[in-house]
Parts: sequence; structure tokens; C-alpha cells
Amino acid sequence: MTAQKKRTVLVTGGAGYIGSHVCKELHHQGYTPVTYDNMSKGHQWAVKWGPLVEGDLHDSKTLQQAFDTYQPIAVMHFAASIEVGESVEAPIKYYRNNVGGSLNLLQIMLENNCKQIVFSSTAATYGAPQTELIDETHPQNPINPYGASKLMVERIIRDCCLSDQLRFVFLRYFNACGADSDVEIGESHTPETHLIPIVMQAAAGDREKLYIFGDDYHTPDGTCLRDYIHVEDLAAAHILALESLLSGATSNEFNLGTGQGYSVREIIQAAEKVVGHAIPYEVHAKRAGDPPVLVASSKKAEQQLNWSPQKNLTEILTSAWRWYQKQT
Ligand code: UFG
Repeated sequence: MTAQKKRTVLVTGGAGYIGSHVCKELHHQGYTPVTYDNMSKGHQWAVKWGPLVEGDLHDSKTLQQAFDTYQPIAVMHFAASIEVGESVEAPIKYYRNNVGGSLNLLQIMLENNCKQIVFSSTAATYGAPQTELIDETHPQNPINPYGASKLMVERIIRDCCLSDQLRFVFLRYFNACGADSDVEIGESHTPETHLIPIVMQAAAGDREKLYIFGDDYHTPDGTCLRDYIHVEDLAAAHILALESLLSGATSNEFNLGTGQGYSVREIIQAAEKVVGHAIPYEVHAKRAGDPPVLVASSKKAEQQLNWSPQKNLTEILTSAWRWYQKQT
């Protein structure tokens, strides 16, 4: 096996938002990211730092070919359906894609003796918070099929780990946002449901206004609080997680957030400063399935992965705005 092959990582969903930023960072750290993506939501333009294998997680033949060709030393698993609201409407799709697809991937990994996985998990596995800051010991009681599907995959991977077949790191993201500092890649979903890109659309005049989903929550200004974490900070955590596995660390799980919650109104106000003008909005009914507050304690990642978020809210919004302007 060549030195090159020894550093190859299979990145499912590598053509997507977080996956592509991680591919860029993998490349910069000397790895070859091989993107495995069915391109249902991913973008060709986002695959710049390694080969693309176009295939679905359910397609064992193409997956096996990817393992034969590239012999990855580890897998980073992002590919999934990711919209909370849609998961409530179409739960079967979420269990099929997220659980069914992961089962197939895990099976192929085991058959190919690939034993290390960094799994893209989510704050949605916790459900309604019982404490102000959510740490990794918080009970996991998801309140929507998206969160439940991710938790099921965690459980399946854990079971494979118990029988010594795999080692894992679960990374539970809070609200991923922002874009690449070089403005090469960024967030681009169709349809867009996430707050910050929608704020940018309203700021640019590409949307008449944005809707604040509920302003009578039990929060300081009545709108929901979220923990917004820059996608480049997430990418850095993935490299640390991978390297911990490669150096023999035991399986582990980490929350990734900043520990600071911002309300929807605060996001709009901060975005107005970045874009330099008022952004039109209207208060609307609550969105089903939205917990009022979701804020991480990321102490464990700080202590055990030596990770700490570097980007503040202004940097997040500035990068998102630069990316938005580049696309239009
Ligand atoms: N929001 C609005 N208007 C919009 C869009 C969003 O007011 O047009 C609000 C939402 O109600 C929420 C906040 O802005 O309070 C953030 O919403 P996003 O849709 O951007 O993100 P979510 O918090 O819903 O989703 C995030 C992750 C998911 C994860 C979920 C857990 O993106 O992967 O948290 O609840 F599952």
C-alpha cells in the first residue's frame, strides 16, 4: 500500500455543506478525501479536493468499488437527509436514508476491515433540553424522526464497537453556519430552511422578508436561542477526531458548539450590522418541533480533543454574506 493510500479517507456526503468544508481541511492536512455522494443534494462545484465517486449508500456494488479503488483508512459519514420539518412529514424517508443507508455503509466497512468512523451526529438527538447547557451526559430523547434516525445510527455503531468491530467518534453539531474563508464553498440548500442563509436572502432583496418563527417562547426576547458554530470550526474538530482515532484513542462522543446562545432577533440585528442596512422581517407562527433553547457545553471537546471554536458571530455572518454575494 502506498503512503498516499494510507492517508485516504472516504467522506460520504462530501459534496454537501459540512462535508465539503471537511474535505478541504482534510486535503490541507495531507489526507486524500474521497467523496462518496449520490448528488441528490450535493454540488459538483463543492468537490475540489479529491475524487468523487457518485453513488448511493444503498448501492453496495458502487460502495465496494470505492473501497477497492481507494482503500480508505477511515470513513467520515455525513450523507443523510437533514431537515427536521421534512422528517416529521416523511419519516420513512429519514429512516430509510439515514438508518438504512448507514447500515449498508457499516456492513461494507466491516467487510473491508475499515474500522474507524467519524459520524456526523446532531444536537437533535437530545430532544428538549433539561439543562441550560447540553453536555454529552444529557439524556438523548429526540423529538423528531431526524434526531431519532441519527440516534439509531449512533446505537448501531456503538453495538459494532462493543463487539470490537469498529471505533468511532460521534460529533454532535449544534447550528452549523458560515462559509469557507476563501469563499470557495459555502451553504447552498434547495429549498433553504436554515435561518442564516434565509437572513442573507432577505438582506440581498432575493426574498421579500424573512419570518421569525414564534416570538412568545420563554426566552429573553421571546425568540428561539441557538448555538451557532462556524463550519470551519466544525471542520477542524473532524480532523482532531480522525487523528484521535488514528492514534488509537477509544471511541468517544463530543458536542460541537460555542456555549453561547443567540436569539433569532439577535441574529437579524447582528446581520444588519454586517450588511449595513435593515433586513425586513415579520413575526410568524411557531415552527413545529423547534425547541426554545439549544446551547452546547463543548467542554469535553475542549479538554479531550483540544478543540475550541475560533470564529465569533460577526465572522460567521460576514463569511455567510460574502458567500451569498458570490453565488448571486
Ligand atoms: N428560524 C426562523 N425563521 C426561518 C428559519 C429559522 O425564525 O426562516 C428560526 C428557527 O425557528 C430556529 C432558528 O431560527 O429557532 C434556527 O433555525 P434553523 O432552521 O437554522 O436551525 P435549527 O435550529 O432548526 O436546526 C438545527 C440543525 C439541525 C438540528 C436542529 C436541532 O440545523 O441539524 O438544529 O433542533 F437537527
